[in-house]
Amino acid sequence: SRTVTRDAQGALTVGGIEVARLAEEFGTPAYFMDEADFRARCRSWREAFGTEADVFYAGKAFLSRAIVKWLYEEGLNLDVCSGGELATALSAGMPAERIAFHGNNKSEAEIERAVEAGVGRIVLDSFQEIVRVAHIAQRLGKVQPVLIRVTVGVEAHTHEFIATAHEDQKFGIALAGGQAAEAVRRALKLDGLELLGIHSHIGSQIFDMAGFEVSARRVVQLLAAIRDEHGVELPEIDLGGGLGIAYTSEDDPREPHEIAKALSEIVARECDSAGLRAPRISVEPGRAIVGPTAFTLYRVGTVKPLEGLRTYVSVDGGMSDNIRTALYDAEYSVALVSRTSTAEPMLSRVVGKHCESGDIVVKDAFLPADLAPGDLIAVPATGAYCRSMASNYNHALRPPVVAVHDGEARVIIRRETEEDLLALDVG
Ligand code: LLP
Repeated sequence: SRTVTRDAQGALTVGGIEVARLAEEFGTPAYFMDEADFRARCRSWREAFGTEADVFYAGKAFLSRAIVKWLYEEGLNLDVCSGGELATALSAGMPAERIAFHGNNKSEAEIERAVEAGVGRIVLDSFQEIVRVAHIAQRLGKVQPVLIRVTVGVEAHTHEFIATAHEDQKFGIALAGGQAAEAVRRALKLDGLELLGIHSHIGSQIFDMAGFEVSARRVVQLLAAIRDEHGVELPEIDLGGGLGIAYTSEDDPREPHEIAKALSEIVARECDSAGLRAPRISVEPGRAIVGPTAFTLYRVGTVKPLEGLRTYVSVDGGMSDNIRTALYDAEYSVALVSRTSTAEPMLSRVVGKHCESGDIVVKDAFLPADLAPGDLIAVPATGAYCRSMASNYNHALRPPVVAVHDGEARVIIRRETEEDLLALDVG
C-alpha cells in the first residue's frame, strides 16, 4: 500500500497513523484500508483504458457503501454478483445503469430486482437464463441490456478453483461446439433482451498476458461470426477481471496500462482483419484494485517453537478472516510492525485461533526470534477476498474494516459483536 511507512523507531504508520494507536483504538484483528491508494488504483485503471472503455470494479473482492461511493467518485462502474451486492450498490447511490449483474444462478427475485432497478447490463450465463431474463423483462415491460458470457477454452495458469475459462467448469456457455453461437441466436430472437455483446472472464490472480490475448481474440472472432450470420455488429465486449497482484516479493504483477495495451492492440488487430468496427471494451478488475490497499493487523497470543521444525505463532484471528491460505494454498508475507527487532530471523508459521490444524494464515515466514505475546504483526495485501470471504467459524466475530485517509481513521464496516451473532439465533 502506498502510504504505509515506518517511522524512525521502526513502527509502521499508515496514512500517518501509528499501528499501535490503530490497534488500541480499533482492536485486533482488523483490516486497515488506505483510501488514497484505493482511489489512485481506480484512477490508474480509468487512465489506462481511457474514455473508449469502461472499468467495472468486481464487488466480490470487497464491497461496502464507502467503496461504492469512492468508485462512483472515481468514475468506475460496478460488477455485482448477488442480490446482497446489488442492494449495497443501490443503497450507496451507484446509478443502476453503471451496474453489471453477474452470476451463474441468479434467482428470479434477484433478476426482477435488477431489471426493475434498471441495471446497465445483466450477464447471461446459461440457456435457461437467457429465457428467464427475457420473460422477466417482458413481464415488467422492459428491454434488458445483456451480455452473453462465453467460455473461450483458455487454461489460465492459476489455482484450479479460481480458473474459469477452461471447459470443465460451471460458468458461461462454451464457444466450442457452436454453443455460444446458438445462445446468441436465441437471445437475438427474444423481445425482452437487447444483446449488447459478449463477455469472457478467464480466471483470477493471472500474471501472463497470453491468456487474456487468446480470450480477446476468440471473443472478437465470435463477433465476426455473429456479423456474418445475423448482419449485426454487437457494440461491446467485456474481457473480465483476473489481473494478479503481489502477495510476496516473488510475485511480479503487470500494471493496468500493460493489460490495457495488450487488450486494445489485440482487439484492434482482430477487428481490422475481420472488417469489424471496434467494439467498446470493458474490464472487471477486483483484486488488482482493492487487494494491495489493505493489511490485516493481528496481535500475537502465543509463540510455540517446535524443535527442528518451525515456530508456531498464534494470532487473534485466522481462517475466519483469511480463508485463502487454507482454500487455495495462497502465499502471504508478514512483518512485525509494533517495534523494531535486531533478533535473528526465525522460521515461523502464523496460525489462527480456530479449532482446526489447517487454520494457517501465513505458511512460511521469517519473524524475529524475540517475537513475544502482545506484539503486533501485519499481513499485507488482504484487501481482496479476505473480509468478503470471512466467516463466523467457531462463532468468531468478523473484524472491522477501517479506512485510513489523511491521518484520520474511520470504520467503514464495524466489528461484529456477540449480540450480532445472537440476534440471528432465533431458536
Ligand atoms: N469478473 C468476473 C466475472 C469474475 O468472476 C471475477 C472473479 C472478477 C471479474 C474479478 O476477478 P479479479 O480481478 O478479482 O481476479 N476468491 C478467489 C477469487 C475468485 C474470483 C471470482 N471471480 C480468491 O480469493 O482468490
